[in-house]
Amino acid sequence: MKFGQCIRQSRKMKSLGIRTLAKQVKVDHSYLSRIESGQTQPSEQIIRKLAKVLDYDEAELMILANRIPPKWRPVIKKAPQETASLIRESLEEYGDGTKEASPLLPLPINGDRLIAPDANSRKSRRKSPDGVPTNDLVFSALLGTNDELFPKILSLYVARGSTIADVTYGKGVFWKEVRKDQYRLLTTDIQNGVDCRSLPYANNSIDCVVLDPPYMHTPGGTAHVAHQNYEGYYRNNSTTNGSGKKYHEAVLDLYFAAGDDAFRVLRSHGILIVKCADEVCANQQRLTHVEIIQDYTKKGFVIEDLFVLLRQNRPGVSRVIKQVHARKNHSYFLVFRKSTGKTRWKGPRELSSRS
Ligand SMILES: C[S@@+](CC[C@H](N)C(=O)[O-])C[C@H]1O[C@@H](n2cnc3c(N)ncnc32)[C@H](O)[C@@H]1O
Repeated sequence: MKFGQCIRQSRKMKSLGIRTLAKQVKVDHSYLSRIESGQTQPSEQIIRKLAKVLDYDEAELMILANRIPPKWRPVIKKAPQETASLIRESLEEYGDGTKEASPLLPLPINGDRLIAPDANSRKSRRKSPDGVPTNDLVFSALLGTNDELFPKILSLYVARGSTIADVTYGKGVFWKEVRKDQYRLLTTDIQNGVDCRSLPYANNSIDCVVLDPPYMHTPGGTAHVAHQNYEGYYRNNSTTNGSGKKYHEAVLDLYFAAGDDAFRVLRSHGILIVKCADEVCANQQRLTHVEIIQDYTKKGFVIEDLFVLLRQNRPGVSRVIKQVHARKNHSYFLVFRKSTGKTRWKGPRELSSRS
């Protein structure tokens, strides 16, 4: 709806004559008439008064009059990029935007005013002018298994033909549903003598590293028997893990050191996919995924994505006296990019076109 139409409609809904409203807003009735018929645009002061008298949302009226609501300006100026993408994303839900595009969607900001684009520029400024609406997407949470989620992450982040080093290959469960001819896969694991903290690859030589070390310490006894068993995999409660750390700190130590070597072997903009889970250690909540993100960010990785994998079954505890923290039934895949953060992720590029 146009600004003038909106004023006329609201005035009529309040059963106000044009002279009465003009008097209340302290303008001449002929001026108000020109506003209603769209011949003139009022000042911000008049818009504010109209909003007050007509009980209309001031921000909405400002937008209808192609203006940025004054209260929003400082924030928009501080974060123009975030504002633009927030607005764009929200408005995309209202349709494809090409026929009846909302005036805000493609509008450039000129000073504090929004300037309406001409009809031709509308389409080309849309985020995805040739895109099609769909919900056939990769989602951030999945109720399922590693081998269901992992290929979806690869499809989003790793170009076909890439060299991928899975440095904790284990039984290769991640790869069950991935066509091997799509990537050049290099597999190593401590079980065949290759430590993920000291990889046999040259600096800047790998497109993607996959890291899934044991992510839970062993409290001993029969507790956590259904979990991935850190002690069984890595004997972290003994002195042989090489870190001198124990329990959750030993878990982190391996992630951190492996992250260092992944950074070394990854090429610029290379992708690191990390599997992890949070744990409660000695009754203390340890949000492993946060600790990893904090450490990796300091190393020079940018966090690009976080996937939550929800277990299908209901995990139990062998001996519970009183439950004090939520039993975890989810794990994460974190996706990092080796980058200074100055460039934004635009999706995997074909190998031939990569710089
Ligand atoms: C959770 S499993 C990995 C499962 C694997 N992602 C899959 O799809 O089958 C953890 C693996 O990390 C390996 N591991 C533990 N410490 C390691 C280290 N320092 N370097 C390399 N691999 C390690 C274990 O041998 C084990 O195979």
